[in-house]
Amino acid sequence: MRRKLIAGNWKMNGSQSVNAALLSDIRSGAGQATCDIAVCVPAPYFAQCQSLLGGSSIAWGGQDLSIHEAGAFTGEVAASMLADFGCAFVIVGHSERRTYHGESNDLVAKKTVSALRSGLTPIVCVGELLEQRESGKTDEVVGAQLDAVLAAISAEELAKIVVAYEPVWAIGTGKTATPQMAQNVHAMLRGKLQAKNPKAAGEVKILYGGSMKPDNAGELLAMADIDGGLIGGASLKAADFLAIIRAA
Ligand code: 13P
Repeated sequence: MRRKLIAGNWKMNGSQSVNAALLSDIRSGAGQATCDIAVCVPAPYFAQCQSLLGGSSIAWGGQDLSIHEAGAFTGEVAASMLADFGCAFVIVGHSERRTYHGESNDLVAKKTVSALRSGLTPIVCVGELLEQRESGKTDEVVGAQLDAVLAAISAEELAKIVVAYEPVWAIGTGKTATPQMAQNVHAMLRGKLQAKNPKAAGEVKILYGGSMKPDNAGELLAMADIDGGLIGGASLKAADFLAIIRAA
């Protein structure tokens, strides 16, 4: 059995005072949790996570990283800097990065490699647009997104990634994939992992993301290949995030 991972993606939300209350509530509420927990926060708050979550079982991470190691890249944040602040995870290829920053499958693959080189666990996001789903292209689009990453990493490195299936039409919309729709895509993704490394594929976590809430988390997380959640909106409310953690 794969241990579930519930990861929050705060996106561009937070302030020192709001975060302090949220992190403290999550920390005290997550005491008995039997799943892995992480929060992926805006880069300015890595230090705050390090001070408020250090020594707890809750991990923290970033939402993006540079493909470069250091140097004249104004505005970018290197993988080593995330590691320097104790980040365990980094989201790569989130659909908002793909849409608003033109991130290609190739760039996402390079970011995955950068993350692995600094010892971070990349949470590699894949997902189709509504029109792609409606025209029957889901497996093709999502499969190609994962293929690009798999081509860039070694069979051994496969064991060190997390995959997140986030149908773009379900993000922040209140629409969720049905558990069976999500499971079908997760099973297809698992097949690709198996082709790359049959032994490690069974250990790789595939998260679902897109309007996961306390009232739908249980049925999604019950599916065979749904190993956790990447939670946006509901990760900003301690009670909702903790309810999803309990469901896992
Ligand atoms: P919501 O949970 O707000 O739909 O966001 C999902 C997401 O994009 C997580 O990365």
